[in-house]
Formats: sequence, structure tokens, C-alpha cells
Amino acid sequence: MHPELIKLEETFKPSILTKIDEPLCAKFGIELWMKRDDLLHPIISGNKWRKLKFILDHALYSGADTIISMGGMYSNHLHALAFAGKALGLKTIAYVRGEEPVVLTPTLVDLSSWGMELRFISRTDYRQLRHYKGYLDLPGIKPQQYWLPEGGAQVLALSGVAELVKEIEVAYDWLCVPCGTGTTLAGLIAATDDKVSVLGFAALKNASFLNADVSSLLKQNKSNWQINLDYHFGGFASTTPELLNFMSDFQAKTTIQLEPIYTGKMMYALYDLIRKGHFSAGQRIIAVHTGGLQGDRERSR
Ligand SMILES: Cc1ncc(COP(=O)(O)O)c(C=O)c1O
Repeated sequence: MHPELIKLEETFKPSILTKIDEPLCAKFGIELWMKRDDLLHPIISGNKWRKLKFILDHALYSGADTIISMGGMYSNHLHALAFAGKALGLKTIAYVRGEEPVVLTPTLVDLSSWGMELRFISRTDYRQLRHYKGYLDLPGIKPQQYWLPEGGAQVLALSGVAELVKEIEVAYDWLCVPCGTGTTLAGLIAATDDKVSVLGFAALKNASFLNADVSSLLKQNKSNWQINLDYHFGGFASTTPELLNFMSDFQAKTTIQLEPIYTGKMMYALYDLIRKGHFSAGQRIIAVHTGGLQGDRERSR
């Protein structure tokens, strides 16, 4: 690994496994644990580091001096990338979806302060960028520039996610993760034994396209995974009072903070599925806390 990345990784903390002691689990004979990737780093938290690590390594060893990527105004991906770029001495450029807001979001303020160049583009142009998947695919890309698709969706991301799986030293039946692009899910599927069922929870509405996207990231043909599409709560950025109440109850009981786009929806879904008898007594579930709390700063202030 590149020496600059090794130096950066030395600032990280362990992602521990926390048992969720919940009467509902005891009632159904289920053990629910959380893999606390949210604790890895105050900024490059959760699945962001997992996905970026080997991509950044590749970029550094390819001689890139600039990473160009894309995301929304609250993007956890851009937030982690801007910080990591600054730490590694890489220039960063972001295509941001939509018009520049009059008041920048807390995420955009951080991106600018870490030196990321922000280019606001229309939703149509943004959608067009989704077609460029390879690191040299962006039209007009210059030598020493490296293109990183939305959410870090690139095959190299899977190697970093595999490290998460290797850290789990207990036996388990289910491994659960929220899905945006499905890249983290693909990494989990690639790294787990076929006896484990890997379950993704889509944060977006109408996200059946994820099945094809995840399959295309996987080199092997595996069948031990599914994506649940039922707990989007109205769409990517939508919430309901029910979800927000669940999250504050969960935090009061466990002291673990969730955010409403990804991990909040997944945990709500898991409680609901436990209640509905989806899991068998005696099974152990591990849910990955993918971080992303920075994106929720305006609401949770
Ligand atoms: C906090 C958080 N959790 C989960 C995800 C979903 O990850 P993926 O795009 O790899 O499915 C994201 C987005 O990348 C995220 O920011």
C-alpha cells in the first residue's frame, strides 16, 4: 500500500462489534450485532474508507494528482473524498447535482474548506455522468486525473469492503447493509462464505436496478444474497415520523446514533422483519453501521 495511505490509516480506530440488547431479539431468539464502521474515523467514516482505500492506492500508484468525482449536496462520499484528498496531497474536483444553493449545506462548506473544487451541474448532466464507470472514462479527462464514479462504485472498492468481513471473528448467519449504489453490498457478497446470507436494504425507491448493478460488480456467480426494496420510506431523502421516532428510541436505548437515509432505514427494517418472523430462532445477524452522520447535521442540530 502507498506510504501516504498507510500514514492516513494509522489515524483510524477499530470498528468494533456491539451487541444490541433488545427485548424483541430475546423474544424471537435472535442475536443482533452491529459492526461499528461509524467509529473508524471522525470524517472518513463507515463504508467510505472501505470503498476508497484501494481506489486511492491505485490512483496514487498510477501517478494521479487529481481525483474527480460526483455527488449530491449532502454526499458522504464527497465528504470523505475531499478530506482524504487533502490528507494525501491530491487535488479533488466534484460535480455536484443541482444549482449552487444560496446557503451552502454543511457538507459543501466542508468540501470547500478542504480545497475540493465544486462544479454545480444540472440534473440531466449529472445523470449523464453516471454512464462513465472506468477511471479514465470521463470525456476530456487529462493525464494525471482519475475519475471516480458516484458513491465510489468501482471494482477496487470491493477489496476494501472485504477487510470489514475479515475483521468479524464470530460465526453469523446474516450480514446486513444499507444500499445506495450497492457497491458495499457487492463487497460483502464477494468476501463472505456461501453459508452466510447477505441482505441489502435499498435506500432508494424503485431500486430493482440494484440487482443488475451488484451482479455486474461481482466477478463470481453467487446466490447467497438479496436486496430488500421495501423500506425506502418514500424515497432516498424522505423520512417519516415513524422512522425518526424509531431512530431516537434506538439511540436512547443503545447510545448509537443512526441517520435516516441508510442505517436508520436498515435498522427499522431489521426490527420489523424480526417481528414478522423473517429470521429463525438461534440465528445471529450482523448489521453494518455505514456511518454517514455528517449528512444529517442540519436535521439533528
Ligand atoms: C452512510 C452510507 N451508508 C451506505 C451507503 C451505501 O453504500 P453503497 O453506495 O456502497 O451502496 C452510503 C453511500 O455511499 C452511505 O453514505
